[in-house]
Amino acid sequence: MDSTLGESIRDVYSVTARKYDMILKAYKALGVNLKKWRENAFARLPELSSPRILDVAVGTGVNLPYLIEKYPSYSKIIGIDYTPEMLLRARKRVRDGGWRNIELILGDARHLSEHITENFDLIISTYSLSIIPDSPLVLEEISKVLKPQGYLMLLDCQKFTGLLSVFNPMAIWLSKQLGGNDETYSVDVSGIAASMFRPVHRKLLYSGLFYEDLYQGKSH
Ligand SMILES: C[S@@+](CC[C@H](N)C(=O)[O-])C[C@H]1O[C@@H](n2cnc3c(N)ncnc32)[C@H](O)[C@@H]1O
Repeated sequence: MDSTLGESIRDVYSVTARKYDMILKAYKALGVNLKKWRENAFARLPELSSPRILDVAVGTGVNLPYLIEKYPSYSKIIGIDYTPEMLLRARKRVRDGGWRNIELILGDARHLSEHITENFDLIISTYSLSIIPDSPLVLEEISKVLKPQGYLMLLDCQKFTGLLSVFNPMAIWLSKQLGGNDETYSVDVSGIAASMFRPVHRKLLYSGLFYEDLYQGKSH
């Protein structure tokens, strides 16, 4: 990614952080039920015993309660995010929840393996890779820290295809409300992930504007 764009995304999130959780709720009024899709995605995750989990672009930590409910005996959860203001909220969530063994790291997912040396049974990234223009680099970094049989879950948005592509300007506008930019959707994240990791399932949501992908291990 052009580093200027990386920085500007961080600037956007420093401001968005304050209202981020409220924007998520406002989306629901448009039928974009990010919460429900998140719940469904977590419900479909495989059972794992004492997993070590990484949340890439953890944001305000919205995924943490779902992870803890699904994996009460987790051995460790690490969340990484680039924006201090988002992490501040995630830290508060962890404190308020009284959760242990959760580490929140301020860092760039494009250099994940410089921040994190452990390997994970489960890596998740929700509503994030679409807005990071260097997402292929992030997927490369994810592949370095995913265990050979580890799972990767991606929940995100992408461009409409076919006749529905006339709605793409609306889709980009929606994404901008949550920190997206003009390069959002320029990369086929899901397609690249499917060539790097072994697909387990794929579910399209909202006529294909959103997807939930689960992978296990690398494809080669
Ligand atoms: C739309 S929010 C999603 C947050 C959370 N995953 C969720 O589902 O609510 C996108 C997040 O990506 C983070 N982000 C953007 N670029 C990043 C990068 N290069 N490395 C790590 N995090 C990044 C932003 O700070 C923001 O918290």
